[in-house]
Amino acid sequence: MLTGAGKIAGVVGWPIRHSLSPLLHGYWLEELDIDGAMVPLAVAREDFARIIAGLQRAGFRGVNVTVPHKEAAFALGHVCDDAAREAQAANLLIFHPDGRIEARNTDTVGLTESLREETGSLEGRTVLLLGAGGAARGAVLAMNALGAAEIRILNRHADKAATLAMALKPRVHAKIETGGLADWPAHAAKADLLVNTTSAGMKGNPPLALDLTALRKDAAVLDIVYNPLQTALLKDAAARGHKTIDGLGMLMHQAAPSFEAFFGTRPQVTPGLRACLERALDHA
Ligand code: ATR
Repeated sequence: MLTGAGKIAGVVGWPIRHSLSPLLHGYWLEELDIDGAMVPLAVAREDFARIIAGLQRAGFRGVNVTVPHKEAAFALGHVCDDAAREAQAANLLIFHPDGRIEARNTDTVGLTESLREETGSLEGRTVLLLGAGGAARGAVLAMNALGAAEIRILNRHADKAATLAMALKPRVHAKIETGGLADWPAHAAKADLLVNTTSAGMKGNPPLALDLTALRKDAAVLDIVYNPLQTALLKDAAARGHKTIDGLGMLMHQAAPSFEAFFGTRPQVTPGLRACLERALDHA
C-alpha cells in the first residue's frame, strides 16, 4: 500500500453517475472539517476484483459498493460481519493496513434505523414486502430485527419469493408467507406496513400497478427507491392518506457506519443532510 495517500474512499458501481454517496460523504467531510474525499468509480462486473486490488494498493481506506457488485464484494472479503454473512452480500469493503479486506453490510441496519425513526418497533405487526431480490433479503432481516410478527413476501415470480423464504426461515423469528403479485388484495388487507423493494418505479422503470384501495387506511407505505424520491407508489399512498416513508432515510443511515469506517468519526443523520440530498434529487 502507498503511504500518504490521504483519507480517500470510493463508491463502486455500474452505472455510478446517479450515486448520491459522493455528495452525502462530502457533506459530512465538510461539516466535520475532515480533509478527505469520496470518489465515484464506474466499474464493470468483469473488472471488479482487479479494480478493488488496485484501489487497495493505491491507499484507499475502502469503498462502498453498489449494484451490481454486492455479491462479488462479499466474496472478496477475508473477514465479514454477521449482516454481510446473512445477506451474502456486502455494500462496504474496508481495506486494513495488513492487507485484509473486511466485508460489511450496512444496508440492513440502514433500513432498520430509518424505520425505527419513522414507525418505531414492529412488535406484533404484519409487513407486506414486495420483491425477492437482494434488497428484499435485507428488508426481511430488518423487519425481523424490529420485531415483526409476520412477513408476507410477494414477488412477480412467486417461486423466487418461496426460495427466499426457505433460505431465511431458519434465521428469523417472524412467520413468513409468500405469493405472487396476483395475491396482493388478500395480503394487502392484513398489512400494517407495505414495503417496496422491487426496482419498479425507479427512474426509467414503470411502476407496479397496485390498487391501494385494498390497503387498510392505517397502513404505512415505504419505498426503498429514492430516485425519484416520491415514487408513483408513495404519491398514490399519500393521496389516500397513508403515512409514507421514502428511501432517503435508509440511504443516509447505511452511509453513516461507512463514513465512520473510512474517516474515523461517526456522522449524524440530520434534516440539513436530507435537505441537501433532496435538492440534488430535484435537479437530477
Ligand atoms: P435487488 O438486489 O436490488 O433487490 P434484484 O435482485 O435484481 O435487485 O431484484 C429486483 C426485484 O425487483 C425482483 O424481486 C424483481 O422481480 P422478479 O424476481 O420477478 O424479476 C422485481 N422487479 C423488477 N422489475 C419489476 C416489475 N416491473 N414488476 C414487478 N417486479 C419487478
